Amino acid sequence: MPINPVETHYTRPDLTGAILAALKAAGTDIDHLTPDDLAPVDEFHGGQRPATIRLAELVGFTGKERVLDVGSGLGGPSRYLAWHYGCHVSGVDLTAEFVRVAEMLTGLTRLVGRVDYRQGNALELPIEGESFDVVWSQNASMNIADRARLYGEMRRVLKPGGKLALQEVAAGPGGPPHYPVPWAREPRISFLFTPEATREQLEAAGFRVLVWQDTTEPSREAARQRAQAAEASTPLGTHVILGSDWQEMAKNSLRNLEERRTELFNAVLERVG
Ligand SMILES: C[S@@+](CC[C@H](N)C(=O)[O-])C[C@H]1O[C@@H](n2cnc3c(N)ncnc32)[C@H](O)[C@@H]1O
Repeated sequence: MPINPVETHYTRPDLTGAILAALKAAGTDIDHLTPDDLAPVDEFHGGQRPATIRLAELVGFTGKERVLDVGSGLGGPSRYLAWHYGCHVSGVDLTAEFVRVAEMLTGLTRLVGRVDYRQGNALELPIEGESFDVVWSQNASMNIADRARLYGEMRRVLKPGGKLALQEVAAGPGGPPHYPVPWAREPRISFLFTPEATREQLEAAGFRVLVWQDTTEPSREAARQRAQAAEASTPLGTHVILGSDWQEMAKNSLRNLEERRTELFNAVLERVG
């Protein structure tokens, strides 16, 4: 049983069974499963696959990179990078259940050997220094208070000159978020900082900003579509992961963006030194 409240928040009993049942209900051919088939459920962040493509294009992958995905979740983005670009991707995630599901879905999409996963904490990455060309992370930092340590760990495992690619939820000027949201049912496990404060923390950790992009607008549009889908309910979606309060989470995600309580940004940075 998880002892960390963040892991408790994300853990669902028998998530494997729930995802397989949803794939079946959606009429997916499980024997010929592709990362595209899984994208509605395994891209577990606002904007889903289009947002992953947007960030990947900012990095400009050649396919030769060794990539570390911090907070890799069910593995949607990492499998996409391995499948589409040919990179080798390793994922680290705090939630043991997510790591098990990520491995299962990697087997079903025949990507074993091209991506791997392990359970671990981003604040103490179980990884040797200077071993990756790119560190990638989407919508994981909002559960992490100690950003100096998080960004320090990301820098440590990057090779000199390596790139950090981030998609993050930030605090907006509109006040604290309405809860529940997909990453937290209560403020105790939610830690948002303004984009300006985040940028300062990243620079202090030893990064130089190459690209910084406010993605609040496209994220709001994606949240609007998800809130509508929450009413319609399709078999395959992130509601399979989120549990019974997913409709409220979808509504709050949209409301928080509309009221500018949350903002989103993409950034690509370079390790200095
Ligand atoms: C909203 S999900 C995003 C998953 C994935 N990045 C994606 O976009 O599909 C947030 C993930 O961050 C992970 N996470 C939160 N805090 C973490 C920590 N301290 N170390 C490692 N993973 C963490 C959670 O377990 C969860 O899988």
